[in-house]
Amino acid sequence: MQPVISRARLDRAQSDDGYTVSAEFYDILQARQDETRVRDLYGRDVAGACLGVLDIGAGTGRVTMMSLARSGVRVHAVEPARAMRAPLMTRLSALPAARLARVTVHPRPLDEAELRKVADVAVCHNMIACLAPADRRALWPAVARALVPGGSLLLDLPPARLPRREIVRFYPEQRVGAHVYGGRLIMAADRSRIRARFEYWVRERQRVLREHTETFWMWPASRAELTGALAEHGFAPMPGRDDPAVLAMTLTAR
Ligand SMILES: C[S@@+](CC[C@H](N)C(=O)[O-])C[C@H]1O[C@@H](n2cnc3c(N)ncnc32)[C@H](O)[C@@H]1O
Repeated sequence: MQPVISRARLDRAQSDDGYTVSAEFYDILQARQDETRVRDLYGRDVAGACLGVLDIGAGTGRVTMMSLARSGVRVHAVEPARAMRAPLMTRLSALPAARLARVTVHPRPLDEAELRKVADVAVCHNMIACLAPADRRALWPAVARALVPGGSLLLDLPPARLPRREIVRFYPEQRVGAHVYGGRLIMAADRSRIRARFEYWVRERQRVLREHTETFWMWPASRAELTGALAEHGFAPMPGRDDPAVLAMTLTAR
């Protein structure tokens, strides 16, 4: 049976969003090293999930794929950006049917995804830094709704403060056939935010074939600020989890 498609929904689904430039370069420049990081930071918690894993801001699917591989539970990949969802869907389409049946992709921000008590582990990887304060405030109650009591939320921490001077980070160049893909990230304070400009290039030997740039904004927050904001929604720090890179909180029964 063919579903009836409402015009209002169709129009909303066609509205454009970010990552249109970065999606092409995201995996080729970052996937390998980030795969290891994701495994180190969240692998143990995901493997212990009994009900479901929620990957908030799934991007191209690093945490989602790891969760499907390391657990036998349902995985919810929440990804509002169409440009990032495209590689995520391509990656999922290569999975065996049994694994594919365990993952649901939600194409909107978590606070609009209407997820209730679907997971006992939630992960925000490389995501909280990019949320404006108002979006963070909308996110916390949505995470609390999506988790069961006793569930855990793991997030890698944003920069605690604004950088004092410009920071430039290069991604190791990657060869793809005759071409070499490269990129760098330039971060600088801009009032209360951090401007994060990604510059990408593709070259053949010394000749640059094309260059692209995309700018994102980041908002600093300390561990204490995030812990306080989450406490208002029923989260408490997980005992014994003092990894400086990750904030691990548990949803207390309320
Ligand atoms: C920097 S990317 C990181 C993607 C992925 N977690 C990774 O590390 O490869 C942040 C992602 O969060 C998504 N995002 C932004 N706001 C969101 C929200 N409110 N709910 C869910 N995802 C969101 C963006 O669309 C983007 O794909």
